[in-house]
Amino acid sequence: MQELEKTREMLKTRWPELDRSATDQGTGKPAPPMQKPCSSRKLVLPEPRAAVKTSLSLVDAIASRQSHRSFSDEELSIDELSYLLWATQGVRKVTPKASLRTVPSGGARHPLETYLFVSRVRGLESGLYRYLPLDHALCEERRMTDFEQQLDEALLKHHFGAALDFVWTAIPYRCEWSYSRESLRLILLDAGHVCAHLYLACQDVGCGTCAVGAYDQQKLDALVGVDGSSEFCVYAAPVGRPR
Ligand SMILES: Cc1cc2nc3c(=O)[nH]c(=O)nc-3n(C[C@H](O)[C@H](O)[C@H](O)COP(=O)(O)O)c2cc1C
Repeated sequence: MQELEKTREMLKTRWPELDRSATDQGTGKPAPPMQKPCSSRKLVLPEPRAAVKTSLSLVDAIASRQSHRSFSDEELSIDELSYLLWATQGVRKVTPKASLRTVPSGGARHPLETYLFVSRVRGLESGLYRYLPLDHALCEERRMTDFEQQLDEALLKHHFGAALDFVWTAIPYRCEWSYSRESLRLILLDAGHVCAHLYLACQDVGCGTCAVGAYDQQKLDALVGVDGSSEFCVYAAPVGRPR
């Protein structure tokens, strides 16, 4: 019970106690980069709207949204992937201090990175990629074959044979630089917005998804290749054509 009391406290804000002048931002430390650099091959993505061929209204997309846990073997197109990435993290505007995106983020800190385990996307080798929102491009992290079983284990059986899997990591310092201990809540609230956009964008291109909060932290961090401290997984979502 004490343990639960502690975790409940972590969910609460203590905003009035936050001394912004004492944060790294307040003491003049430089802002961390808005996006991790890419030291491998970059693949520029097509214009995001090209994939949207339906005339599904927003009201119908909202009304019919649901979680999908069974997918066909069908490939997705690169246009569809481009649209889903833009809808979840696409950049609308860059200012000297921040980027403004298709999703909101506390203080426009955008502390999440988007990784993709690509199993079946036409024109893309299978493997691990990372979205570069500022370039609307993919960074090829690692070519991989036969990874689906390992991924399914890390996702505690939530891969569901999907064509691709979104995995979102948090880089907490992007938020802590500005908001110190308040960052925990802000990061998780941000993740909710991102996945909600994924659900709705999937409807637009005949895909389905399922939010995944239950995964093996160590296994998924290791598979993505993050250190589990300065960056770690917070959320995942398989995507495919619903069966
Ligand atoms: C934060 C969050 C975490 C979730 N984690 C899981 C999960 O680990 N496994 C799963 O099968 N569904 C997961 N879901 C999906 C929910 O089970 C699902 O949204 C709920 O049952 C309602 O169904 P619907 O989305 O079809 O309306 C998650 C949803 C949210 C919002």
